[in-house]
Amino acid sequence: MAESAEIILDGKSYPFPVIEGTEHEKAIDIAKLRDLTGYVTLDSGYKNTGATKSAITFLDGEEGILRYRGYPIEQLAEQSSFIEVAYLLIYGKLPTRAELEDFSHQITKHTLVHEDVRKIFDGFPSAAHPMAILSSLICALTAFYPESVAPDLSKEEIDLNVIRLMAKISTIAAWTYKNNMGHPLNYPRNDLDYCSNFLYMMFSFPTEKYEIDPRIVSALNKLLILHADHEQNCSTSTVRLVGSANASLYGSVSAGINALWGPLHGGANQEVLEMLQAIQKDGGDTSKFIAKAKDKNDSFRLMGFGHRVYKNFDPRAKIIKKAADEVLAALGIDDPLLKIAQELEQAALTDQYFIERKLYPNVDFYSGIIYRAIGIPTEMFTVMFALGRLPGWIAQWKEMRENKEPIGRPRQIYTGETERNYVAIDQR
Ligand code: SDX
Repeated sequence: MAESAEIILDGKSYPFPVIEGTEHEKAIDIAKLRDLTGYVTLDSGYKNTGATKSAITFLDGEEGILRYRGYPIEQLAEQSSFIEVAYLLIYGKLPTRAELEDFSHQITKHTLVHEDVRKIFDGFPSAAHPMAILSSLICALTAFYPESVAPDLSKEEIDLNVIRLMAKISTIAAWTYKNNMGHPLNYPRNDLDYCSNFLYMMFSFPTEKYEIDPRIVSALNKLLILHADHEQNCSTSTVRLVGSANASLYGSVSAGINALWGPLHGGANQEVLEMLQAIQKDGGDTSKFIAKAKDKNDSFRLMGFGHRVYKNFDPRAKIIKKAADEVLAALGIDDPLLKIAQELEQAALTDQYFIERKLYPNVDFYSGIIYRAIGIPTEMFTVMFALGRLPGWIAQWKEMRENKEPIGRPRQIYTGETERNYVAIDQR
């Protein structure tokens, strides 16, 4: 590996250190570039820029590898639980049985939200998008726990905020659905595990006992595990940037929820389902939509396809696709949208346009099929993504704080008007 990189500017040579990660990724450390040369780098969308060093998640986009704290996602999805993976991401190690029981018990104890939260709910229009409600109410937790904004919180105080957030997001998320449906809200139960409790709060009715199906609980655990972290993606980078200003964990995560809502990011899972429904309504001719996706004059994109980092199959998409087949078979559901998705995938994977651009199905392509089979409405899909991604956002925010990283403040290249004098309005 090169020890250093040499940049030659205006005839002068400048050496910059090269660093290598534990998985042999290499970077040129340009921390002193502007001081030494007066130049900055320019990299729209940060496609070539490392924002930080992190020990949480490793992914290799070329090889389709994803590991949380070194553990392959395939093993965690098959053998672990969402709360155990949350502990792994946040605290850096798999918990002992006693640690897991305590973490899970602490979360259960904090799932209740302040009754004043219900009053805020009443202020939202019933048609409000669940993500608008979720981001508002997660930020509102700062108002209910004002001490959380202190920049010098102790480990114990941060751990309490972590527990509160992990616990209350599940109740708030379920309540956004009930609010949307005009149903009575369900209060959390302390006798249920995390995923069972969420399903209970989502689907139980005062008039009809909701039977918790272990197959659905298992599928939900797997989906949440697969969404739990993904290194420096758009929403995680947002959480880190907001948190770098010493903003509270709740405020930083609320900003991340809004970034995730974007249709190019986590909002894509809702867009995929709506795209499949549009293809179905249009008669099911997938080739017509493949052509639209390739047409530069058509703004249509094949939602759920392509990825900034994966230039191979997104390993999560492979697991979710298999889980979709299993869940639908177990529940005896024959969803025509699954067949359209499979046809679309096959058509795209054999089309030069997608092959040349290394566009493969990503995590959002099949997840909606399972959410739909579970009974979760399309508008709740990105809320489910946020529920899954929360431990990753927390872990990354915590790492940024523990590493005492500086406030994020990128530079720019100015391309506007050069200096000119003010002109009185009657002279313009
Ligand atoms: C997530 O970063 C993460 O880790 C995100 C995520 C996570 O876990 O946090 O994995 C979750 O956000 C998954 C991505 C969900 N988004 C979508 O499915 C929306 C559809 N996909 C795209 O819009 C796009 O692929 C992105 C946004 C995901 C990636 O965009 P890039 O890396 O900026 O790539 P690009 O837009 O520059 O595309 C490169 C080329 C372009 O064609 P050319 O100009 O070279 O001719 O590929 C084309 C694009 O037009 N292209 C697509 C396409 N995606 C890219 N063409 C048709 N359909 C698509 N889906």
